[in-house]
Amino acid sequence: MNEYLLPVIEHKEIAPDIFSLYLKGNLKNYEPGQFVQVEVSESLEPFLRRPISICEIDKKGIRLVYRTKGRGTKLLANKLASRDQNNYGKTYLRIFGPLGHGFPIIGNKATLIGGGIGVPPLLGLAKKMWQQGMKITALLGFNTKENAILIDEFKNYAEVLIATLDGSLGHRGLVTELITDNATPVYACGPEALLRALERFNLTGYYSLERRMACGIGVCLGCNITVLTKDKKELRQRVCYDGPVFPLGFVKWGEAGD
Ligand SMILES: Cc1cc2nc3c(=O)[nH]c(=O)nc-3n(C[C@H](O)[C@H](O)[C@H](O)COP(=O)(O)OP(=O)(O)OC[C@H]3O[C@@H](n4cnc5c(N)ncnc54)[C@H](O)[C@@H]3O)c2cc1C
Ligand code: FES
Repeated sequence: MNEYLLPVIEHKEIAPDIFSLYLKGNLKNYEPGQFVQVEVSESLEPFLRRPISICEIDKKGIRLVYRTKGRGTKLLANKLASRDQNNYGKTYLRIFGPLGHGFPIIGNKATLIGGGIGVPPLLGLAKKMWQQGMKITALLGFNTKENAILIDEFKNYAEVLIATLDGSLGHRGLVTELITDNATPVYACGPEALLRALERFNLTGYYSLERRMACGIGVCLGCNITVLTKDKKELRQRVCYDGPVFPLGFVKWGEAGD
């Protein structure tokens, strides 16, 4: 991992409150599922950097897709939106990474299951799997058609099935209702309710967790969760350092919440 100060070359709102951000540069040894810590403000306030997954890295640069949630991400979006787009190459963002462990890729087929703002890191994964000749199905769930993101990009690499809660695009209902008997192995990222729901299916694979983070490098223990080993022993793990990707069924959810 390294710290980089990189020029912003694109910042676009791709859905309400969701932004696609391109930084000029590359990250050596990036694995899909890893994240970076983003400095949202040049001042000391807010002090903590915000963890954002790497959506993909291509010839253009490093792509992050983020939703404005609270103070930090709103500051970032406002700062970048206030810049003249023609001057983007002169606006810089400091990031630290790549951090954590990405998704282990196994076998020759995979089902990617994404919910909402959990969808972006699965795009880089789909691309890597496609480059390896794997057969990929992507099940993507959103609240409404308006919130649906990255669908055309996924279609370059995977068979894509969509679910929206209000039925405005694809299947009406939950993304888990699209899971078939031969979905294993699955690679999931999304809200905790989705990750927990996957454990009710007879599936193996991996899910990526989100926790509030401070250091992002395994030092402060702020993102600790309890996991269960194969012999049902409890173990404390750091989401930023040991994860954020864990094997499905590994997390002891009752104690894992913020
Ligand atoms: C591995 C990982 C990958 C992620 N990838 C993405 C992504 O690709 N796209 C995306 O949109 N979002 C992603 N997120 C979520 C994103 O990090 C949060 O939405 C973002 O940090 C919110 O910051 P905020 O300042 O806008 O919100 P706020 O809710 O105002 O602030 C949240 C942050 O403030 C700090 N904080 C606030 N209160 C506390 C507290 N009580 N204890 C400790 N710390 C506190 C923490 O740093 C916390 O992360 C990811 C999160 C993780 C962990
Ligand atoms: S954020 Fe500090 S140990 Fe994970």
